Amino acid sequence: MRLARAQRPQVDHELIAGAHAHYEDAAYYTHSYSQRIDDAQMYVDLALASGGPVLEVGIGNGRIALPIARHGVDITGIDHSRPMLADLRRRLKAESKLVRSRVTPVFGDMRHARLRKRFPLVIATFNTALHLYERPDVEAFLACIRSHLTAHGTFVVDMSVPMPADLVREPSKAYRTPRFRHPTRGVVRYEERFDYDRARQILFVSMSFSPIADPQQEFMTPLAHRQFFPREWEALLHYNGFEVVNLFGDFHRGPFDRTSEVMVWHCRARR
Ligand SMILES: C[S@@+](CC[C@H](N)C(=O)[O-])C[C@H]1O[C@@H](n2cnc3c(N)ncnc32)[C@H](O)[C@@H]1O
Repeated sequence: MRLARAQRPQVDHELIAGAHAHYEDAAYYTHSYSQRIDDAQMYVDLALASGGPVLEVGIGNGRIALPIARHGVDITGIDHSRPMLADLRRRLKAESKLVRSRVTPVFGDMRHARLRKRFPLVIATFNTALHLYERPDVEAFLACIRSHLTAHGTFVVDMSVPMPADLVREPSKAYRTPRFRHPTRGVVRYEERFDYDRARQILFVSMSFSPIADPQQEFMTPLAHRQFFPREWEALLHYNGFEVVNLFGDFHRGPFDRTSEVMVWHCRARR
């Protein structure tokens, strides 16, 4: 049966681009977040305490997984970005044979993957969960996590707290930062625009890069982040079979309070 045009599900190209584009340039990803080390140390400590093996959903190019493996813990990582996984495999070549043997990258979707293996620690780091745009995405994701946790296993997920100031920004206004050296495009002018869809609770960010040497080569990278308010995420965990063991407001086990910019959830499957 052919559906009338108006009845066919709409493909949301803006959302698809916002879910993938930021992960197509792994070199720029590494460059952007090279100073972000506190979260990596926290996940290394958690991995060591769990004894491993660890499952990371949204492993990316190994920013967290490589330090975990270097500390002697086996880690399997799922990702649906081929460029990020290719970069992870490239980076692994520079590691010792032992470290290489500890990392198992898997191409797949963190909502539907079935590895037929359970882990005492499952992690979803650095806003990976903000790519779950609709309730069925969250439900499938949490079911997938549950199916990979051992009976007493822990699921740790961190994400940014929605910032009211970001959500009311005028979409046409550009926010500039000082020019910098892009890892592959030379020195660039850089600006960001923010457009919050409050019906869908999705923050669309456009990152524009204009190479100084050749402004004609200007390009834009979109990023779409679902905004989960703290009590909303807690309810989603609860109604999908998880209990919250701890909620921290930073990567040093600080309390979560009205000044926190990040939420770090430690959860277990409810028995
Ligand atoms: C912000 S990056 C985090 C990468 C790495 N964990 C880190 O902390 O640097 C989010 C990662 O999640 C991946 N991702 C997003 N949605 C996904 C999905 N549905 N299934 C698998 N991977 C997904 C992206 O491709 C990206 O590599």
